[in-house]
Amino acid sequence: MALLEVEALTKSFGGVTAIADLSFDVPPGQVYSVIGPNGAGKTTLFNMLSGIYHPDDGSIRFMDQGVVGRQPHQVAALGVSRTFQNLQMFFNMSVLDNVMVGCHLRTRTGLFSAALRLPRIKREEKLSRQWAREALAICHLDKFIGQEAGSLPYGVLKRLEIARALAVEPKLLLMDEPAAGLNDTETLEMRKLIRRICESGITVLLVEHNMGLVMQVSDRILVLDYGSRLAEGTPVEIQNDRRVIEAYLGGEVQYAL
Ligand SMILES: Nc1ncnc2c1ncn2[C@@H]1O[C@H](COP(=O)(O)OP(=O)(O)OP(=O)(O)O)[C@@H](O)[C@H]1O
Ligand SMILES: [Mg+2]
Repeated sequence: MALLEVEALTKSFGGVTAIADLSFDVPPGQVYSVIGPNGAGKTTLFNMLSGIYHPDDGSIRFMDQGVVGRQPHQVAALGVSRTFQNLQMFFNMSVLDNVMVGCHLRTRTGLFSAALRLPRIKREEKLSRQWAREALAICHLDKFIGQEAGSLPYGVLKRLEIARALAVEPKLLLMDEPAAGLNDTETLEMRKLIRRICESGITVLLVEHNMGLVMQVSDRILVLDYGSRLAEGTPVEIQNDRRVIEAYLGGEVQYAL
């Protein structure tokens, strides 16, 4: 059974249809990529999957539960976590604290009980610290743990955002352009990280423009064009799909797999 089921999803902004009657299923345990030209609707899709936008029409089911109508924190509580196309970080906080910010979703701490510093809160803080450390370890960020985020290079911050998203132990991780702006070495590191995350049992939904990375890391690929499904299949199928080659991949189709 699919982990995520999207059916007849539609979203317009004024006269622009960003997502048009889009349906697809994401099986569990895979890296599933969504590609398409600028403006194809990829981020809009992520915004609907994470509860930031509400679709005009259609349905989203995650582990057989409806997502449409839920607020972002409620979708996160179902087990869907995400990173953003533009870094969203507390630059004056430490690496560890940036990751722990994500953990409050897993604890029951309200503002009132946090202010009273009840024993339960202390226990939860300890747990959060432990989850954060585990997430940082997966992302190979252990050595930066006490450093201020603002002092770190961009490539490290991209992984820090992923660590924060992992600290809530999601079942599905949405990644919006994790390799944007990375050099070749950092991109290779990112590819390995995406596979490690998938192998740890978390399903990954990836939006990415770096076709080399997409072709090497993905189990399946959905190609969007003007918000609609142009093609769907394995990397080999996508690279050999006439419509995809004509509309999108152009001369860039030959990637070593
Ligand atoms: N909040 C918004 N208000 C108005 N139009 C929007 C909004 N968000 C997205 N759009 C429009 O919807 C379309 C899809 O945009 P979206 O950001 O989803 O594309 P994308 O595939 O993520 O592109 P990119 O690869 O450049 O990140 C575009 O035409 C965009 O201008
Ligand atoms: Mg985008």
